[in-house]
Amino acid sequence: MTEELRTQSADAPAPESSGLGGAGARSAAGPDESQLFSSVPDTVSIYEVGPRDGLQNEKVVLPTDRKLELIEGVVDAGVSRVEITSFVNPRWVPAMADHMDVASRVKRRSDVRYSALVPNMRGLDGATRAGMDEVAVFLAATDTHNRKNINKTTEEALATYRTVVDEAKGRGMKVRGYVSCVYGCPYEGAVSLDKVLRVAESLLEMGVYELSLGDTIGVGTPRQIEYIIRGLVAAGIDLGQIAVHFHDTRGTALANITVALQIGVRTIDSAIGGLGGCPYAPGASGNVATEDVVYMLQGMGIETGVDLDKLVSISARLGGYLARELPSKYLKAHLGHCARIGKVV
Ligand code: HMG
Ligand code: MG
Repeated sequence: MTEELRTQSADAPAPESSGLGGAGARSAAGPDESQLFSSVPDTVSIYEVGPRDGLQNEKVVLPTDRKLELIEGVVDAGVSRVEITSFVNPRWVPAMADHMDVASRVKRRSDVRYSALVPNMRGLDGATRAGMDEVAVFLAATDTHNRKNINKTTEEALATYRTVVDEAKGRGMKVRGYVSCVYGCPYEGAVSLDKVLRVAESLLEMGVYELSLGDTIGVGTPRQIEYIIRGLVAAGIDLGQIAVHFHDTRGTALANITVALQIGVRTIDSAIGGLGGCPYAPGASGNVATEDVVYMLQGMGIETGVDLDKLVSISARLGGYLARELPSKYLKAHLGHCARIGKVV
């Protein structure tokens, strides 16, 4: 149970009976015979993208020490997969210019996987020198977004990544693959399943171990999520290799995640505080907040291994460092609760 609900339960009816929603108890998940939730997994892996996707588009560039505090904090809160930086050109993404420092100074734990984005061989070489043993390649399903984001067409990007993935695997690294603009592109509008499939299959053929399907500009809605994921699975892609990556631009991220869970997806990307956005996707705003995802999963009786109290205290601090109110709903509820009971955050 979260600290907030524990405090409430001291002077109010138990959360389960007060309609506040469950916080971890399996009984709160509802009857076991539920048809809607029969494929929902018991455990879900949270892939934290806050230090990379979250910070890459912030007005305030966090100093390296604060980034390290953030990464080590989310790991201490129980996150076991975290994307810490990107080895991209700092002229394109100034907030990630300290990638070498972040990746070589972060205190690593052997039970945690740390990853970084790499767009080409130069990025991979940097990541290798910094001691990364996992990297992620990324491209959109659409040509125009790829030209704007990585200065290549889709086919050129795939050709580059064939070399990068091959080389990374030869160096003993694991490689994740992002397909972005899966549910819509800021430049081309609607995106067909065929375009998503083309990029997804190419990445898998290269040997990426997991595909993260990005709703880069947060336009997806639940039926579309089902259509795309089931379409990929029908084409022979293993559901266990699919992760979902939602930006909550239009408030549909948790609904979309629920659908992905109902299909049986077991990996969810999220960013602490709801930070985030792609600098080359006009209108893109924050990723779905890790606290909001963990709260919902706990209430559904799904294990994440993440301590919500620790997580929310990090995001409360982060809002101060970035001098803005972060979008996470759970964080806002927590801050409101602390203000009501006079607790200093
Ligand atoms: P380019 O200008 O075409 O690169 O950029 P180039 O190969 O022509 O080289 C030009 C200069 O860049 C050279 O330096 C290179 O050395 C340098 P110069 O000789 O002029 O001094 N360079 C590099 N420097 C540092 N690191 C490198 C690197 N590569 C070349 N790795 C490039 C091509 C890909 C580098 C550039 O477009 C770039 O850095 N793009 C990254 C943009 C980015 O990070 N966007 C945000 C990612 S978020 C996203 O895509 C969505 C996601 O979150 C999922 C979702 O939400 O859906 C993943
Ligand atoms: Mg993203």
